[in-house]
Amino acid sequence: MKTIVAVDKNWGIGKNNDLLFCLKEDMKYFKQMTLNKVIVMGSNTLLSFPGSKPLKDRINIVLYPGGHRDDCIVAQSLKELSQILRNYNSDDIFIVGGAMFYRTMLPYCDTAYITKVNADGNATHFFENLDLDQDWECVDEGQPLMDNGKEIRFTVYRNNNVKDFLITEE
Ligand SMILES: NC(=O)c1ccc[n+]([C@@H]2O[C@H](COP(=O)([O-])OP(=O)(O)OC[C@H]3O[C@@H](n4cnc5c(N)ncnc54)[C@H](OP(=O)(O)O)[C@@H]3O)[C@@H](O)[C@H]2O)c1
Repeated sequence: MKTIVAVDKNWGIGKNNDLLFCLKEDMKYFKQMTLNKVIVMGSNTLLSFPGSKPLKDRINIVLYPGGHRDDCIVAQSLKELSQILRNYNSDDIFIVGGAMFYRTMLPYCDTAYITKVNADGNATHFFENLDLDQDWECVDEGQPLMDNGKEIRFTVYRNNNVKDFLITEE
């Protein structure tokens, strides 16, 4: 499975249960990468979407212990999530946040699509700094481009120590 995230120069990803920046090109990239795929998220990220609704034209799965929704697939536990994800092709699965859920799922991802924003968004929530993680290697640094007044790059990292997401304990 894969993960996709936009980080600021401190690997910050959010504040006030919202994104740090409004980036049109990055939104386009996110849509292009995830359309008709399976997106998996923590409950706060689902609630942060417009209208707290799942994203269109994607299978939306949320880890939401105790939560109930009839507009997307809900996993009550990591064990249940690991069973649900077995129904999909691993290459089609994208972990889309937020901070707590990225932290949990990162060891099981083989690829991370990281949009790097050259700015400080004063984040309260952070992604792991993959440049300090020996399992991860940057394989594409991308080209700088301007997006809504911010310089961004679409980078790609590879995990050289991927774990199997098979959870048997509650
Ligand atoms: N920059 C980006 O690309 C990006 C992408 C996505 C999100 N974000 C930002 O990230 C921030 C939200 O992060 P967050 O950490 O608060 O939210 P989150 O990870 O989306 O949701 C946290 C909740 O999900 C459930 N959960 C997540 N991991 C779990 C685990 N290992 N075991 C059990 N339950 C788990 C729990 O739900 P319950 O509390 O219901 O038990 C937990 O409270 C927002 O600011 C959002 O905008 C940024």
